Amino acid sequence: MSGSKYTASVVLITGGGSGIGAGLASTFHQRGARVVIAGRTRERLEAVASKHPGMEIEVVDVADPIQVAALAGRIGARHPSLDTLINNAGVQTLVDFAALEPHDPLALGAEVDVNLKGLLYVTNAFLPLLRQQGAARLINVGSGLGFVPLAAAPIYSATKAAVHSFTVSLRRQLARTSVEVVEIIPPVVETDLHRGLARRPPRAMPLDAFVTAAMAGLDAGRPEIAVGLANVLRIGSRVSPALFLNIVNKGDQ
Ligand SMILES: NC(=O)c1ccc[n+]([C@@H]2O[C@H](COP(=O)([O-])OP(=O)(O)OC[C@H]3O[C@@H](n4cnc5c(N)ncnc54)[C@H](OP(=O)(O)O)[C@@H]3O)[C@@H](O)[C@H]2O)c1
Repeated sequence: MSGSKYTASVVLITGGGSGIGAGLASTFHQRGARVVIAGRTRERLEAVASKHPGMEIEVVDVADPIQVAALAGRIGARHPSLDTLINNAGVQTLVDFAALEPHDPLALGAEVDVNLKGLLYVTNAFLPLLRQQGAARLINVGSGLGFVPLAAAPIYSATKAAVHSFTVSLRRQLARTSVEVVEIIPPVVETDLHRGLARRPPRAMPLDAFVTAAMAGLDAGRPEIAVGLANVLRIGSRVSPALFLNIVNKGDQ
């Protein structure tokens, strides 16, 4: 670490057009940061940016490494002092491998492409720019389900376990650099993530309360910010994995 104080002066948030990404974008913007939100749907991004004068938008599919490299070029030219990257874009589906027919293999890979490969592409493309700053943060959004899987969402849970593992490795690799590596680990939060699902999860945390807790964790400089029930799963997965697997998947058999 260089000793320079981290300030979050320019922030890029993938998946910033809705939910957690939009909530974090709004808070950083209110605090005076330059904020760029990125996602696939221009209309969603414009709707968020229109409420926050000066907020910028970038249309990008994080699962496409060519689009991600082009984005890094544009942001590097426009915001050479980018010091905060939030890898937040994500999708979730329910996939039943007990079904008798095989699934479309291309559809099976979609969550891996966004939640894991997309996060790797964005991290890889933006690290050189983050490294140029005296102090910077790379923030990955994981999930409590990365610690205790929801069997009905097996691929999603696996991608989030991978995001956690990757983040732990990245933090060690970058320990002697100016880039701090942080993981935000949400519980179930009220967003669009579960919109298309047949079964919506119970006990969702209100978005505002989640964003407040996540920002408090960032302000405190915590490397792993597990909020609410996600922290229960994080600890429970170590103390009593079988018990917590049953709790999360209660009633599925
Ligand atoms: N809500 C929860 O209960 C919960 C719990 C644990 C973890 N999380 C994590 O929190 C993060 C944010 O999710 P959310 O709950 O806020 O859901 P959300 O409202 O659905 O937000 C996800 C965002 O990601 C964007 N996105 C999806 N695929 C993308 C792609 N290929 N390229 C670029 N952007 C993409 C979406 O916009 P476009 O579709 O327009 O691209 C959307 O704005 C995700 O990583 C999710 O896994 C959420």
